[in-house]
Amino acid sequence: MRKNIVAGNWKMNTKIEDGIALAAGVEKWVTDHPSSTGVIIAPPFTHLSEIKKVLKNVALSSQNCASEVSGAFTGEVSVDMLVSVKVQYVIIGHSERRAIYGETDAIIAKKVKLALQAGLIPIFCCGEVLSEREGNIHFDIVRRQVEAALFSLTETEFSKIIIAYEPVWAIGTGVNASPSQAQEMHKFIRSIIHSKYGETAASDLTILYGGSCKPSNAKELFANPDVDGGLIGGAALKVEDFTGIISAF
Ligand code: PGA
Repeated sequence: MRKNIVAGNWKMNTKIEDGIALAAGVEKWVTDHPSSTGVIIAPPFTHLSEIKKVLKNVALSSQNCASEVSGAFTGEVSVDMLVSVKVQYVIIGHSERRAIYGETDAIIAKKVKLALQAGLIPIFCCGEVLSEREGNIHFDIVRRQVEAALFSLTETEFSKIIIAYEPVWAIGTGVNASPSQAQEMHKFIRSIIHSKYGETAASDLTILYGGSCKPSNAKELFANPDVDGGLIGGAALKVEDFTGIISAF
């Protein structure tokens, strides 16, 4: 069964005290407002183990993981390390990782595989940049990203995946995709999954929208049949904004 999810990507924000307070605020709201919507937060690596202690009804994600298992990879954090501090999800292939840190489709595919092997649930991100949308190749771009990262998975592996469609031109810009643009791309993603993994895999897949999602636009975005929630950046940094988005369901 497909699940509605709202996930908060904190990016490189908050010191530990602010992070714990934010996490505790979200946890309290979620506990006070029980629903079937899954809520996930993705704080910086340094906060994960402390923040885990204040979470019960909110799940914990990291924002990245290493593409290697262990060893001489200075500065990297392995999937096993994440599991050892009880992280459950990992964001992989975020556009900032692709654009700023040069992560290729091949690196992202490796991370997805390693995460699954370790028992983490990947939140796999895809999305086109503005020139690609203006050049009308956004469907081709997203198809390439999805196929490259996910199509070597077995059906069982694929059944764990969450996809986040994040048009890069909408991330942090204040300009969200329109509900119809989001629906159109989500439907397209579901159709490519259908042709590779079949009906059940496609209909069970959770596809999140990300890019300037906020309390004022979440409701109309989430109302679309193929939009199953959001991956939230800026608006995940305030309890009222983030929980305002959760209550859009
Ligand atoms: P934003 O970021 O909500 O600040 O646009 C979304 C994301 O990058 O995941």
